[in-house]
Amino acid sequence: MAMAILHSVLVAAHLLGMAVIVGTFLVQMRKKSDFAVVPVLIAAIVQVVTGLALVGLAEASDYDLNYAKIATKAIIATAVLVAAIFAYVMQKKGGRITPFFHAAGGLALINLLVAVFWR
Ligand code: HEM
Repeated sequence: MAMAILHSVLVAAHLLGMAVIVGTFLVQMRKKSDFAVVPVLIAAIVQVVTGLALVGLAEASDYDLNYAKIATKAIIATAVLVAAIFAYVMQKKGGRITPFFHAAGGLALINLLVAVFWR
């Protein structure tokens, strides 16, 4: 019971995190400046933390995961996080944010497709 609630909370946070990254990207992808970098950075951290927690929970419940898929998602999510960190640093320093913002959003979109289509 407690495990089921924890699982639902983690999945909800995981889907919300995805919505924030992909949603922000789709709404702002034609902008040239003033990107909402902080929500994307926070959500990129949420994705890695909740994703790993979901893997841990599946392990604890002896649920079989597709590890090739999980590894692929982990690598892409790490790249999303690195891109979001660069976007944040560039915003602080006054450098070019666009390529990093687009990398974070585009890669998160790819991870969504990996999550849904790779069964
Ligand atoms: C930008 C990063 C990510 C995005 C956009 C994303 C997207 C998604 C989506 C859309 C689902 C729901 C799929 C479905 O129920 O059919 C999902 C589930 C899942 N994701 Fe991610 N994910 C990301 C990162 C990660 C990472 C880093 C991990 C682990 C290393 C991970 C592990 C999982 C697991 C285990 C589930 C299954 C949850 C369940 O029990 O239903 N995800 N992800």
